[in-house]
Amino acid sequence: MQVVIKPDAAAVAKYGAAIFIQQIVTKPDSVLGLATGSTPLALYQQLIDAYRVESVSFKQVKTFNLDEYLGLAADHPQSYRYFMQQHLFNHIDIRIEHTAVPNGNAPDPLHACNDYERQITAAGGIDLQLLGLGRNGHIGFNEPSSGLQSRTRIKTLTAATIADNARFFQPNEYQPHLAITMGIGTILDARKVVLLATGSAKAAAVKAMIEGPLSASCPASALQLHQHAVIVIDEAAASELT
Ligand code: F6R
Repeated sequence: MQVVIKPDAAAVAKYGAAIFIQQIVTKPDSVLGLATGSTPLALYQQLIDAYRVESVSFKQVKTFNLDEYLGLAADHPQSYRYFMQQHLFNHIDIRIEHTAVPNGNAPDPLHACNDYERQITAAGGIDLQLLGLGRNGHIGFNEPSSGLQSRTRIKTLTAATIADNARFFQPNEYQPHLAITMGIGTILDARKVVLLATGSAKAAAVKAMIEGPLSASCPASALQLHQHAVIVIDEAAASELT
């Protein structure tokens, strides 16, 4: 696990984006794992900017997103598919058929989970996986107590995660309590992992991930097992490290 500490969130996004751009330039048909949430937004903007100045093309890139709310259709404004279209896919030259987000509206969600694993394998596995970090140490929607070898499956979101993500929903809007998420085992299979975390609200989770014991109570601590995991954090997120 390599830990990189940058002064602020903008520098974190720049550093993370450079890793992604390097990956795509080196291997134009890279398979990328992607995340939603607030943290990757600045990185996605950097990728869009790089595409606009023609320093990178996504024509051959394939992507797999980490997770999706169960029960939301792809065109629902709070769905993670919608998020990805708005914040990245609509602004670059990626082929829509090369982008995968778990199907939150599948008639048979269990089959959809297994099928997602098959799709990742058929694509040759994930070359580079982007992660954010939940305040409770989750990665994807692998909440505390998730099995460290888990695969794509349905997870119940904790009250803490539901509260954290309520900011994306209108006050009376239905907010799902279940999600499909890649498992920790799925994430660990990626050939390289880049986790971004910024702000003091993430400091305790960062400390548990990096300095805590390898434990299902902090799912991100599983990254201690990964040979090529880069943790990019700002000074506020690093503030509880010893
Ligand atoms: C999103 C995801 C989550 C987020 C995490 C942090 O696809 O998998 O694990 O990365 O909840 O979210 P933000 O970045 O909004 O703090």
